[in-house]
Amino acid sequence: MSYTFLDLAKERYSVRKFTGQQIEQEKLDKILEAGNVAPTAVNYQPQRIYVLQSEESLAKVRSLCPCIYDAPTVLLIAYDDNQDWDNPKQPGIHSGEQDVSIVATHMMLEAWSLGVASCWVNLFPNNELEQAFDLPANEKTVLLCHLAMPPMMQSRWRSGISVIRRLKRPSLLCNCNVYRGSYGSE
Ligand SMILES: Cc1cc2nc3c(=O)[nH]c(=O)nc-3n(C[C@H](O)[C@H](O)[C@H](O)COP(=O)(O)O)c2cc1C
Repeated sequence: MSYTFLDLAKERYSVRKFTGQQIEQEKLDKILEAGNVAPTAVNYQPQRIYVLQSEESLAKVRSLCPCIYDAPTVLLIAYDDNQDWDNPKQPGIHSGEQDVSIVATHMMLEAWSLGVASCWVNLFPNNELEQAFDLPANEKTVLLCHLAMPPMMQSRWRSGISVIRRLKRPSLLCNCNVYRGSYGSE
């Protein structure tokens, strides 16, 4: 049976234990490319992605965030507040966080498909982090995403079969309202 996108989405999980191995540059490039092709409002592409791999930058990010652990690569994911879309019908509503969320999700799923573990992390002081990395004032951080090699997933993926299927929450379909009517008619 072929491995489908839904299989991948079901299998992905937030990984917090890794080998010390750095991820391969080729895989990192593909992960970043997946972020690059993500849809953004009006295709404004306001995402700003910083790849942290130096000892200095990793030490800095670890000192500000308890959830980075010993990951050898961390993506600092922000958006440019001057380049995202502003909703003309609702002042104050803009797309930056939505754009970046789609970009990050694309990257995490691509990472999983390559056998690279990731985790979305937002437990950090945004302003301090922006100052620590000297980001321009118009760049707003949304999340950190660590990328690393997990021993288990690697062998599961490489063997081509998912040996362990993590039982996620019971079906969440009950959280979706399936709207069957045509727009405006119900
Ligand atoms: C918006 C968001 C913020 C999150 N922040 C953190 C975080 O700060 N630290 C952490 O360890 N995990 C964080 N997570 C990961 C979630 O805990 C995890 O995705 C959730 O429990 C579902 O588990 P799964 O990813 O293994 O399916 C975050 C996830 C999301 C979507």
